[in-house]
Amino acid sequence: MSTALPRHVRIVEVGPRDGLQNEKAMVSTADKIELIDRLSATGLQSIEATSFVSPRWVPQLADATEVFTGITRRPGVHYPVLVPNEKGYERAREAGVEEIAVFTAASEAFNQRNINASIDESLQRFAPVLERARGDGVRVRGYVSTVLGCPYQGEVPLADVVRVARQLHGMGCYEISLGDTIGVGTPGKARAMLQAVAGEVPLNALAVHFHDTYGQALANLLACLEVGVSVVDASVAGTGGCPYATGASGNVATEDVVYMLHGLGIETGVDLARLADTGRWLAGRLGRETGSRVGRALAVS
Ligand code: HMG
Ligand code: MG
Repeated sequence: MSTALPRHVRIVEVGPRDGLQNEKAMVSTADKIELIDRLSATGLQSIEATSFVSPRWVPQLADATEVFTGITRRPGVHYPVLVPNEKGYERAREAGVEEIAVFTAASEAFNQRNINASIDESLQRFAPVLERARGDGVRVRGYVSTVLGCPYQGEVPLADVVRVARQLHGMGCYEISLGDTIGVGTPGKARAMLQAVAGEVPLNALAVHFHDTYGQALANLLACLEVGVSVVDASVAGTGGCPYATGASGNVATEDVVYMLHGLGIETGVDLARLADTGRWLAGRLGRETGSRVGRALAVS
């Protein structure tokens, strides 16, 4: 089931949320706002801005309301936020949010640790959120985590990934992002996983979300582009990781994804030089070198 590569890929920039949620040192609200505004100036069309989860569970993003109300929203750019339950939905709407992402996993063990719920309980929690979102005209993205392996349960059966993706889509999520939360996947497995899900959920409603723990993310991504996926999550400067997934490291760096896509002749609408600047600026604020190979290469070229 190999098709031609897509002509255009939409990147969902998850740096301000996934990128920052695992940072131990507090990042200031002003820096978070500046990060999002810099990212929207690069041509990115979707920027996951923050997370309205419990501040006790993710203290780094406790300033979600201040961040969301502080950014300058660019016309045409979507700013989804993570929402775990109705309380998060209400906080998000009060802040003016127009797109949300709900999240669950294909692994029971991971879900218990990450959101203190079984898969079915999590879906039950989302049902009223999705219903309210529909009534309010709010778009909902859905995440399925641990699609290629779980830090607690190990192997994750493909049938579980397919079932959870199908359920989220059936509940009204316009797009399902398939997450290799701990970055253990390899291209053959990534391809097989995507093909299995695409048997039940239309390919144009699927996105891929690779963490780069084992350095496989770009290779996995290429394998999935060849299957026909055209929405890719990535995080500027290669930041990221889930505090409740032992061993999870950064997401694939947006700069590296854009460089690869442009090299393949695929449009993204993103200004790579500006993006790489933003990645180096963020790395500076975090007190380390950028995690993007392309960002480093462009700095010396
Ligand atoms: P819980 O403790 O079971 O929930 O947490 P609870 O309903 O019993 O609430 C406990 C307290 O939190 C209460 O406060 C609630 O009011 C409050 P208290 O009465 O004790 O003072 N609370 C909230 N406060 C603000 N906003 C809320 C909210 N909800 C409850 N929305 C819960 C359950 C889901 C809330 C918690 O487990 C949680 O917030 N988990 C989030 C974990 C997280 O954010 N993980 C990282 C994101 S997932 C990820 O990174 C993977 C992804 O990138 C894809 C991939 O890589 O695979 C998406
Ligand atoms: Mg992630």
